[in-house]
Amino acid sequence: MVKECRVAPCAHGIVYFSPAGSTRKVAFTIEERLKGLEQSVTVFDLSLGMQEVNAQIIAFCSQSGPCCLWIGSPVYADHAVPLVEACLRQLPAAEEQYGVPFVTWGGVTSGLALADMGEILQQQGYLLLGATKVLAQHSSMWGAEQPLAQGHPGKEDLDKVNLLVEQVVNKLKQPVKETLAPDVLEYLSPALRADAAGKNLAVAKASRPPLAADPDKCTSCGTCEECCPVQAITMDKVPIVGDSCVLCMQCVQHCPEQAFPYDHVTTASKIEAMAVASDEEKETAVFV
Ligand SMILES: Cc1cc2nc3c(=O)[nH]c(=O)nc-3n(C[C@H](O)[C@H](O)[C@H](O)COP(=O)(O)O)c2cc1C
Repeated sequence: MVKECRVAPCAHGIVYFSPAGSTRKVAFTIEERLKGLEQSVTVFDLSLGMQEVNAQIIAFCSQSGPCCLWIGSPVYADHAVPLVEACLRQLPAAEEQYGVPFVTWGGVTSGLALADMGEILQQQGYLLLGATKVLAQHSSMWGAEQPLAQGHPGKEDLDKVNLLVEQVVNKLKQPVKETLAPDVLEYLSPALRADAAGKNLAVAKASRPPLAADPDKCTSCGTCEECCPVQAITMDKVPIVGDSCVLCMQCVQHCPEQAFPYDHVTTASKIEAMAVASDEEKETAVFV
């Protein structure tokens, strides 16, 4: 008779940040598949108030028994969004805990985002069970005629995500013997790695004028304040954009008066040129 090897059930937590909705779509796909596999799942949306949500995540990871944290970020300037990295850095040290980083990227390059997230998770004591970089429409190109990666993530991308979920759950059915080697996430060519290392959100912010609404167009309606996922906007007569802005451009996109100046044509051509300069294959990939 074959003796069944029993392991304690694992609690799954999904943490994500998603100004434009693609990372949320992936997070929901993971949630649905985990539920379909009768796993226990808790979802944390980092845009619902950073401090409060971070405290909930720490409490979740500190409970007894194994847990698996799926953590998702958009790629911004070749990296995960800094607030997602900050969330990872404050995870409690773990003995039997697992991590699965996932990113969505707009067809330019996924940069160092997955490698960095994987490294931080490991530093916190989380064993990597898998990872994925999911192609998604470039969120800075909502006004472009043909946004990069339009139509993504679509069924094929999400099928790959579902497969990853199944593989991770299978790994957790037995005592975990094999985890993801960290160097698997260092898939960029040396030239692209070097290029990505010099980029980040702070550099991108420093290289452009701060976001500001035209006072002649702004009606102080507060839409920008409501849709800001990092609560960076306070309303005076016009919106004041604070330092926590991550350049997601939700305020610009949703302003009913188009009061924030935005040059769609120049932005699109810069992004397209960067995509051409990168030799990373423009597709969703899964690492297990
Ligand atoms: C400020 C900013 C920087 C971005 N940088 C990159 C990048 O370096 N590489 C890339 O492929 N896409 C980049 N994108 C596109 C996003 O990574 C992509 O659209 C992502 O799916 C957005 O996630 P969300 O829909 O969950 O907000 C960037 C978007 C923004 C707003």
